[in-house]
Amino acid sequence: MKRIAILTRDCAGINAAIRSVVRTASNFNIEVVGFMRGYDGLIDNDIISLNHRSVSGIINKGGTILKTSRSERFYNESGQNEAINNIHQNNIDGLLVIGGNGSLTGAHVLASKYNIPVIGVPATIDNDISGVEFSIGADTAVNVALDALDKIRDTATSLERIFIVEVMGRNCGYIALNVSLAGGCEEVLVPEMDIDYDLMCKEILQGNEKGKVSWIVIVAEGKAKAIDIARIINEKTNLETRVAVLGHIQRGGRPTAVDRLLGAKLGNYAVNVLNQGITDHCVNLKNGEFSTIPLEYAIQPKKIDVENYYKLIKILM
Ligand code: F6P
Repeated sequence: MKRIAILTRDCAGINAAIRSVVRTASNFNIEVVGFMRGYDGLIDNDIISLNHRSVSGIINKGGTILKTSRSERFYNESGQNEAINNIHQNNIDGLLVIGGNGSLTGAHVLASKYNIPVIGVPATIDNDISGVEFSIGADTAVNVALDALDKIRDTATSLERIFIVEVMGRNCGYIALNVSLAGGCEEVLVPEMDIDYDLMCKEILQGNEKGKVSWIVIVAEGKAKAIDIARIINEKTNLETRVAVLGHIQRGGRPTAVDRLLGAKLGNYAVNVLNQGITDHCVNLKNGEFSTIPLEYAIQPKKIDVENYYKLIKILM
């Protein structure tokens, strides 16, 4: 391969991956270009040259230096044709797509439908890529949310209140479950599980009678809105509730060591496998071993062990 391209989604640790890709490729004498703003930049031919120097000083930065977008146009064949045209016009021999489910679905389209050599690098705070143990960005997101939660707990304990904290996760409860367990929370509501409001409120009232007056309920945004949960608890228990929605602070911030290391290792491995001629796969690091997973499988909904998480959260509350 002589020339490869990168496009990305955004989350902490992606810059570490870009840096790793560019510097690994330079060891193979492979030139690297970046498409700005994800698939929109690929369609618009918004391209920049990347070299050893242009990726210096970014390993500690959140977000992505390549910027990103949610590209509506890439869903249509006309957008895809523009993208393919630009890949060929720019003499690009292979593409690395760094992102989550949506980005990797686009990568699978390019590889399977248009025969473009493509490798995916899993990077999403939702950690919902099938077969992938850890996606870049998930560790930072959990730590950012946990930091906020610890602060909220100070107030919840001091004022003896019930707090409902909404975290990210449209279809997946990864952040909610991990934050609940690591933060010592009392209840967690995730898309993968039904909510028994009566049972939850009964537990709150029973706890209250025994003197447990502060309570933290974590809800994944894809399950329900914190404000609605707060209203239901208030109506059913007559206890005062407060709400905090953490939102996009979870996708930004200084990447943790875990995410920088993952970015460095997966970026390096991705260049190696792309250069070996592997395509339509995503890279993975599990139990210290590198592997590749077919993109077709990686983009299926990931199953997490919700029940065991839930049991432990309840035992330890
Ligand atoms: O997929 C990552 C994620 O942060 C989800 O947790 C969240 O639901 C979604 O993206 C938000 O997307 P946007 O930033 O486009 O609103």
